[in-house]
Amino acid sequence: MKVLYNGDLIEKKDARVDIEDRGYQFGDGVYEVIRVYNGTLFTLKEHTERLFNSAKEIGIYLKGTVSDMEEKLKQLVAANQLTDGGVYIQVTRGVAPRKHQYNDSLIPQITAYTFQVKKPVQEQTAGAKALLSEDLRWLRCDIKSLNLLYNVMEKQKASKAGAFEAILVRDGFVTEGTSSNVYAVIDGVIRTHPANNLILNGITRRKLLEVCAEQGCSVEETRISKEELLCAQEIFISSTTAEVVPITELEGKPVGKGVPGDITKRIQEGFQQKIKHESEASISS
Ligand code: PDD
Repeated sequence: MKVLYNGDLIEKKDARVDIEDRGYQFGDGVYEVIRVYNGTLFTLKEHTERLFNSAKEIGIYLKGTVSDMEEKLKQLVAANQLTDGGVYIQVTRGVAPRKHQYNDSLIPQITAYTFQVKKPVQEQTAGAKALLSEDLRWLRCDIKSLNLLYNVMEKQKASKAGAFEAILVRDGFVTEGTSSNVYAVIDGVIRTHPANNLILNGITRRKLLEVCAEQGCSVEETRISKEELLCAQEIFISSTTAEVVPITELEGKPVGKGVPGDITKRIQEGFQQKIKHESEASISS
């Protein structure tokens, strides 16, 4: 099994993280998770650009171009002969004796590896449970930061309670899930939080908005209040690894009829078509 280690493909067993890496000590870095379908990195450019952008937002300037990085990630996938799975890539600020302030000359540490993905097929077809949690995260959720402490805490609570996701609510409005974006169908319109500093603008989210436009579904990027969510006709979440999952039970109560709704199913289907088309287009190019 090969991993990407600062530009080189090396054996996983030879990869070592320095104990003074700021990612390890401060969570000082950013990351991406990219899905591989049929040997192809899905929405590779979008993920790589977001990684560069997250890095820039925290003052990490990566050498090399987005295309260089894309090339390396393709080589990693090929080296591990991965057909279906994912790639995790992380950039940390660098290695230095532990001190909050840092020297601008630090060398960013870039690592990536491939992994298997278990599609949440059961949840995708039958629907999943979700809980509500207060959104107590910082105010730069648009940066895909390694600091996931609050996300981890709330996901763990949800998981212990038998739920698939915790949906976060800030000041009475739904932001996103601990590791997903959230959508609700209200009066026949699909609504999701606007892409601002309070959410991560998911790559899956962007693709779903395209699917909606193509299918002529009405969509609004407007805030959903907690009360609106609790009586939504349909709810679904999206992420790279979960794809599109209907939420059929919220806080112990059925959402709509308690089964995946028609609009959600259409979006799921449209997204699968997109994966198929884009993977085929990328293989033939
Ligand atoms: N998480 N919001 C948050 C807080 C997330 O962590 C994620 C993804 C998303 C969806 O983004 P995308 O569609 O680009 O995956 C939204 C990844 C999958 C993770 O941390 O594993």
